[in-house]
Amino acid sequence: MPRHPLAAPLSGQWDEQSATIRGIAVEKLASAYGTPLYIYIADVMVNQFEMLKRALPDLDIYYSIKANPHPAVIELFLKRGAGCEIASGGEYALARSAGARPERVVFAGPGKSREELEFVIHNGISEIHAESYEELEVLESISRELNVAVNIAIRVNPSRASGGLSMGGHATVFGFEEESLPKVVNWLSTSKRLVLHGLHVYSGTQILDAAVLLDNWRCALQIAKQLVTLIDKPLSTLDFGGGLGIPYFSQERELDLQSIKDGAAKLFRDARYGALAQCRFLIEPGRFLAGPAGIYVARVLSVKTCRGSTFVVLDGGMNHHLAASGNLGQVVRRDYPILNLSRMNLADEIEVVVVGPLCTPIDTLGRKVCLPQPTAGSLVGILQSGAYGLTTSPINFLTHPTPAEVMISDGKHNLIRARGKTF
Ligand SMILES: Cc1ncc(COP(=O)(O)O)c(C=O)c1O
Repeated sequence: MPRHPLAAPLSGQWDEQSATIRGIAVEKLASAYGTPLYIYIADVMVNQFEMLKRALPDLDIYYSIKANPHPAVIELFLKRGAGCEIASGGEYALARSAGARPERVVFAGPGKSREELEFVIHNGISEIHAESYEELEVLESISRELNVAVNIAIRVNPSRASGGLSMGGHATVFGFEEESLPKVVNWLSTSKRLVLHGLHVYSGTQILDAAVLLDNWRCALQIAKQLVTLIDKPLSTLDFGGGLGIPYFSQERELDLQSIKDGAAKLFRDARYGALAQCRFLIEPGRFLAGPAGIYVARVLSVKTCRGSTFVVLDGGMNHHLAASGNLGQVVRRDYPILNLSRMNLADEIEVVVVGPLCTPIDTLGRKVCLPQPTAGSLVGILQSGAYGLTTSPINFLTHPTPAEVMISDGKHNLIRARGKTF
């Protein structure tokens, strides 16, 4: 069992005493590929996917590419039967080149350009999640121009939502307000080529409480019932969004999948009648699937003290891992799990501030981190970094090289993106 409680998903893959993954020393990867680097463990991603599938057999899982858009990651979930949720034309291209079939791709996002919409419609897509009247008008115009029918899901911002970083339940840019559902339905009823195919209700990310998640799904089902009453016909899909959280801080606990399994089984059993009897239910998680499988590894450049604080300066920081610096959003503001990978066999002995190399005080990755004494050359690892890592980070700031990305699968390491070169 890993010593760090948040390393639990790495059990069986990761020997903490020696900082090796499936027998491969992290130091060996750092020397071979350079630091900083991201390491992803394929088996951990597969395990997260399989666990979710077992807990939620009624749900079709679509991987939310924004969490980690590396083609090797997308491919891994596609091979297990996942669909893809994309949020841009670029993500569509990534999904398709990783092998996604058009009928297994849905497109959500509050600002889609005409160019992107034309691109995905031309190349085929299962469903576009409409989020504004302007978008509906553009979709109508494209469908007329290309003379094709386009499947639409209405994205609804529910009148209530609880927990995590909420995307609904209050004033947000995402989707149509629940209260305006009749007006949207009315708008769509005048369209000849836009087909009302589904409903999308995504209430918030990083939810760790099973009851909150189930409550949000219950709320989505109620909206779906309103919608089928309004349209007086069955709905093909109901997308409950993503939002399944993972623990980042010592006081956080993993989602209780057993409670979700029990609660969801009853919820979906009760909901499957009338116009929802044949409806396909889907979720689009990102963080839960990819997050626990990633470690960001950087090397210590210096250790210095200033007015009683000890600063550990790494060769990478928020330019590669904005989320760990706490600058990505309100949810993840405390310290990620941070380890001194070079001295794993020793007990914690010093409280330090872990910073990156950028010329800004916000480039702080850990504020009160207890580690075995690091020295210049030590390797530091940040766990839970497989989702919203590199993809959300300002990689051009200060023109450092982009980090290498390495995937460990079947006990072998594969360089899936080489370190960038800036000079
Ligand atoms: C529309 C949509 N679906 C899915 C996700 C994935 O969310 P998570 O990583 O919390 O599962 C997001 C994240 O922002 C999103 O905006």
